[in-house]
Amino acid sequence: MVREIYISKISREEIINNLLVGGREQKELHERASVIRDENVSRNVYFRGLIEFSNICKNDCYYCGIRKSNDKPERYSMSKEEILRAVKFCDRAGYGSIVLQSGERNDVGFINFVAEIVKEIKEKFPAMGMTLCVGEQNKATYRRFFEAGAHRYLLRIETSNEEHYKKLHPKEMNFKDRIKCLENLKDMGFQLGTGVMIGSPFQTIENLVDDLFFFKEMDVDMVGMGPFISHQHTPLKGGDETKNFNLSLNMIAYLRILMPDINIAATTALQALHPRGRELGLEAGANVIMPLVTPKKYRENYQLYDNKPCIEESSDECLVCITERIKSVGLKPKFGEKGDSLHYFRRVKNGCAD
Ligand code: 5AD
Repeated sequence: MVREIYISKISREEIINNLLVGGREQKELHERASVIRDENVSRNVYFRGLIEFSNICKNDCYYCGIRKSNDKPERYSMSKEEILRAVKFCDRAGYGSIVLQSGERNDVGFINFVAEIVKEIKEKFPAMGMTLCVGEQNKATYRRFFEAGAHRYLLRIETSNEEHYKKLHPKEMNFKDRIKCLENLKDMGFQLGTGVMIGSPFQTIENLVDDLFFFKEMDVDMVGMGPFISHQHTPLKGGDETKNFNLSLNMIAYLRILMPDINIAATTALQALHPRGRELGLEAGANVIMPLVTPKKYRENYQLYDNKPCIEESSDECLVCITERIKSVGLKPKFGEKGDSLHYFRRVKNGCAD
């Protein structure tokens, strides 16, 4: 309760003025966010084993390494057996949740495949938390996925500014459609996750602050956001990586202050820019980590941005490495628990979160 007074003092102006802080001020900001994290969602860090099950994509987003016009990656789709093997690994490792992520497709074959594999995972691993991240779909499809057993959905808005959105995406992609998808997912009962790229071309500090308030207004349950990193075979280039990295940490910290009980991921992209990127994300207020469990042979073909880390490691190596990283910042790796968003339960119980 004391915190609420603290939180309500945060204004848009304060965040605009401080989003780029470094040095001692930055450390203080992260400490303030960490205290709020500890008090609201504890010092546990929850795992989501990330299975990138296909890199086939119908979209042509200007920033993304698996955009359909990039002919460099070898396109793949994991079989059901391969996916189930990866889920089994997560189960044995004690990862309480998985994320099934792929490029976006809307064809019947794909939709059926996703619904079937979700159902099979739910039957074989009933205690496993399951997040889907397969892009924009119609309402009936979302309903099918929900009924099959997925209870969380991640769909990044990428930017909450419509004009900016247009600069990052081809005209076939529509900002309003994406918002509608987020609303549909929420209405359907999913724990809702979204996020943005931080430091993407044409983005302003004001845009980023608006993104934070967008998350708050959408009343989302989880956020995954990380630095924009140019990909050599995409049209969008540029940005100062050190600046984007620090901005990303500060975005995590301010989001934690604004939304104390949501789940926030320390994303892999942070580690692409700094060897301790994910640890620093945790120190800035994040409480979720997503170890890669995609089979090693597919990893090099799922590079959304350049210098993606963990491509050479096996899932076993990622487990050991990530556990040590969490412990190194004095937080507790929480095995064997789903780690659902506390915000979600409050939101559903109260009709609204606050
Ligand atoms: N840099 C950083 N993040 C990216 N993503 C895609 N391309 C890039 C990039 N070049 C992110 C998008 C997408 C998520 C799966 O990966 O935010 O939603």
